[in-house]
Amino acid sequence: MKIIVAGKGGVGKTTLSGTLARALGRAGHRVLALDADTNPMLGVSLGLGAENTDLLQGVRQGLESGTTEHERSTEGFVERFGRDAPDGVRLVVATRIDRPNPGCMCCGVSPESLMRELEGNGVVVVGDLEAGIGTMWRLNEADADVVLVVVQPTAKSIEVARRALELASERVREVIVVANRIREDDDLEMIREALGHEYDYVLIPEDAVIGEADRRGEAAIDIDDHAPGVLAIVALADRLAGVSAPA
Ligand SMILES: Nc1ncnc2c1ncn2[C@@H]1O[C@H](COP(=O)(O)OP(=O)(O)OP(=O)(O)O)[C@@H](O)[C@H]1O
Ligand SMILES: [Mg+2]
Repeated sequence: MKIIVAGKGGVGKTTLSGTLARALGRAGHRVLALDADTNPMLGVSLGLGAENTDLLQGVRQGLESGTTEHERSTEGFVERFGRDAPDGVRLVVATRIDRPNPGCMCCGVSPESLMRELEGNGVVVVGDLEAGIGTMWRLNEADADVVLVVVQPTAKSIEVARRALELASERVREVIVVANRIREDDDLEMIREALGHEYDYVLIPEDAVIGEADRRGEAAIDIDDHAPGVLAIVALADRLAGVSAPA
């Protein structure tokens, strides 16, 4: 199963991707977390810490400077360029580098084609996309099974979500709206009214633990796995995991 997380900048994509990946890992799945942001931070939300997250980025800089050898195979890419996070999650970073080797798995492929390549043997892939809808334009049916469109109760994030939903619905089997940072009933209603009642909505409440995790550079699930925002993401993981049982 391949899950893509999309939405406007700052809506909570990385927090959701990291916590979801950890929750799926705890549920017994083999999880591959793909950081497709040019400013890769998924490692922090997975609980790898800022230093380890930077190290992973350093490997890519090695490609740019010619000190790291390129990798053509998908398995080799995950093995050599990935890093283990807690709960059996493997993290890979897919940001572009300046002088990519065409056709090379470690640097010349786009996030959406990496998504296409990465699945296999019952692995669940969670892809944290770059903000906005750029990748959504290029998405094909084979690249993802589920798109989670993250939105907050703000006009701008709703506008980006509307466009993301249109593109995702044309291309991917299952689309879910994740209404994040919800404080009151009116927030969810406002989002639903704006985006339409035909979509499936999942709510994540505003949660001080998630904010605290960001301040500390840690994973929210490591600080308190019973915090309301974390529990909402764990419930979403259970629902998605129901689609495919652990391998
Ligand atoms: N449910 C929540 N409750 C409280 N704070 C939240 C919640 N969700 C996200 N945040 C906070 O919002 C900020 C942005 O979150 P995050 O980095 O996950 O967003 P993003 O969409 O990945 O951003 P970017 O587009 O820059 O990659 C962080 O400080 C995070 O702690
Ligand atoms: Mg992010």
